[in-house]
Parts: sequence; C-alpha cells; structure tokens
Amino acid sequence: MVRSEPFRPAKRVAGQKQDVWTIVNEAATASPVQPIINMGQGFFGYNPPQFVIDAAKDALNKVECNQYSPTKGRPRLKKAIADSYSPFFGREINPNTEVTITTGANEGMLSAFMAFIEPGDEVIIFEPFFDQYISNIEMPGGTIRYVPLQPPSNGATQKTSAADWTLDLKALENAITPKTRMIVLNSPHNPVGKVFSKSELEAIGALCVQHNILILSDEVYDRLYYVPFTRIGTLSPEIAALTLTVGSAGKNFYATGWRVGWLIGPEHLIKYVSAAHTRICYSSVSPLQEAAAVGFEDADKENFWDDSKKEMKSKMARFCAIFDELGLPYSEPEGGYFVLANLGKVKLPENYSFPPHVAERPRDFKMSWFLIMELGVAAIPPTEFYTDTNAHLGEEWLRFAVCKNDDVLEGAKERLRGLKKYMS
Ligand SMILES: Cc1ncc(COP(=O)(O)O)c(C=O)c1O
Repeated sequence: MVRSEPFRPAKRVAGQKQDVWTIVNEAATASPVQPIINMGQGFFGYNPPQFVIDAAKDALNKVECNQYSPTKGRPRLKKAIADSYSPFFGREINPNTEVTITTGANEGMLSAFMAFIEPGDEVIIFEPFFDQYISNIEMPGGTIRYVPLQPPSNGATQKTSAADWTLDLKALENAITPKTRMIVLNSPHNPVGKVFSKSELEAIGALCVQHNILILSDEVYDRLYYVPFTRIGTLSPEIAALTLTVGSAGKNFYATGWRVGWLIGPEHLIKYVSAAHTRICYSSVSPLQEAAAVGFEDADKENFWDDSKKEMKSKMARFCAIFDELGLPYSEPEGGYFVLANLGKVKLPENYSFPPHVAERPRDFKMSWFLIMELGVAAIPPTEFYTDTNAHLGEEWLRFAVCKNDDVLEGAKERLRGLKKYMS
C-alpha cells in the first residue's frame, strides 16, 4: 500500500497557532531599534552563583558524573533535595521513595500527566497558565477545563497587588466533573506573580480531597516569595496524599538551560511518575544533577536563598519604578520574577501597520509588537496564556521579566520613557 502523506504530522504538533516566542523573536529581528532589550522570556541575564558553577566544572572531572544516572536521579541530589525540603514539610522526606529527578520541571510535569492521565480524563488549570501545561496534558489524551483568575477590578487605573487576582471557588467547583483527575496549581504564579494564600490553598485542597483529585503543584519559583508562602502539600495528611510538588534547579540556581527538575510526593504517586520519566528520557543530565546537589548542600552556608530573594526583590523595585514614573498601573508581584503592567492608557496610533498574524490577535499582541518596533523593548503578551474565551481578561497587560542585569533594567526603563508620547 502506498502511503499518501508520509510527512503528515501527528495532531499533537500540527495546526498550532504561531506561538508567542516566534512572533516576538520575529519582531525583534525586524525592529529598526537594535539591539532589542529582551524583557520577554524568563531566562536569567546572568550566571548561576560561583559555588554552583564550580560544582558543575568539578562534576565533569568525575568519571561517574559523565555516565547515565539512575533513572530516578542521582542519590546525592535526591538526598540534598530531601534534606532541603524536609523542614518545609515538617517531616522527613524519604529521598529514595518520595523524590524523583526529571529533565527540568517541564518534563517532570509531562511525566506526571503521562503517569495518571488516560484519554478522556479531565485536568483543571487556572488562566493565565504556563503554556507548556496544555500540550503536556493533551499528549496523553487529557481534556483541559479552564478556570480564570479574576483580574483586579481597578487594575487599569491604579497599582494593584498580585493577590488581587482572585480565584472564584464556585467556578472551580463547577469545573469539577466525575472525569476530573487532576488540578494544576502554580504558586508563585507565572505570569501573575500571585502567591496563593493559605486559606485559598485550604479551600482548593478541601475540594480535591472531597472529589479525590490529584494536585500537581508547580512551585518552580518557590525560593522567590515576598509574602508568606504556603506549600499545599504541607497542609494536611489527606492533601499530602494527593499532592505532587514540582521544583526546578533551573529557576532556583539561575540555570534554566541545565534542565534539572524534580517532583516530591508520596511513594504511591512518585513511583508512577518515575516510571513515566524512565520511558520518556530514561534519566537526566548527570553532571548538572551533581552540581544541583552541591547547590542545595551549600546554599544555606552561602546565604544564597536569602540573597537571591533580596536581589530579585530589588530588581523588581528598580524596574517597576518606571511604571510609577509613567503613571502606568501594574500588579505588584508577591513572588517570582515577572511583573504584569497594564498598558490600557497607552494609545496605539490609528492606522499603525501590523502584520496579519499580529493584527488578528488581541490588543496585547499589538502592544508587544509596537513596543519592540518603536522602543526596542520586548515583553510578552499574556493572552498567549489564555483561551480565546477568556483572552479579554489579559489583553491590557504585558509581562516583563526582571531577572536581568541592572544595566539592562535601566536601559529598558530609559526606552520605556518613550511611551509618554503615546499616553494621553
Ligand atoms: C510556571 C512554570 N512552570 C514550569 C516551568 C519550567 O521549568 P523548567 O525550566 O525547570 O522546565 C516554567 C518556566 O518558565 C514556569 O514558568
């Protein structure tokens, strides 16, 4: 039999809209203002701390660090993570049964979905969402139910807090069906910067216990919080029995390219995540696991966690000063390194020419394009992280990443002063 379409892609990769990263990069290349100041993607503009870099170099000199690691991760890293997180969980985490190492948090979450989602199962996520969740849930055949966070009602006129992006618990309850298998939480949240309060997490946890729903708690920004931070897996034994907590060495140690992540959870969940991970990529990068282990072992001695939080908070304050100066409202983050600014007051010139694939997208895509072309500053349009139905909730905002060197932040601020002439 002759196969008519040998290069026909599978549905899971075909027919996707041009993604935001491609659009932003295309604009950045086309912009007359060069070089662009990239405040868009959430990668760090500086190196991991020296003690972690040195550990990576040392690891490359060790024979066993250049070979396969055990599929569940290197014992040294699992122990370092268990030791570092046991105090937060108020109990001893077993490194052999309750921790599994993955190729970044992203592949860890894919492994969790692959482990528990069958075709037709439903997964609840909040909007705006981290975009990788979607394909990760759809690959094993899951169906997504979306529950939007409600933006602050006065977010277009005054400075608000990320806490003002609220969850409608009734809407969450209504999204639960007999097919609901999992819910994905993200705190500190990308892109909102919200740190879910203890009472919000208790309410979500109670619903999950009542309906027997697994909780995938994406806590990759867990060391960057500026208000009290609660981990849902610590709230009660009943909630802990349902919870997988996700972490990322890339986010913790400014090394997003290292692709080292992990999940912590009860043995009856972790063993299936490990099984899926083994099938997806067998094991994760050995020398960088070793370096991450040293990172955890030495972080307190180096005062790294405190310094890292202080430094990011000061970058946030330094950058947000421009919005105060311009009188542009923003949502002050409670954690992480993203800030959402509301650009509703900026008037896009009439008849401004946008390429068709930008013109058809919501206003934030046009604003992002405009900023790159006219000012040479790249920021991310958050409606990329919404379904079409709820995109209107995000279209006045833009997301800026502040994990950049201070001179880059100052350069971006100087360029953003150019917005004045487009504001009435
Ligand atoms: C909310 C969230 N979860 C997960 C990830 C992915 O983490 P990793 O780079 O460890 O795969 C990111 C990265 O941007 C993120 O923002």
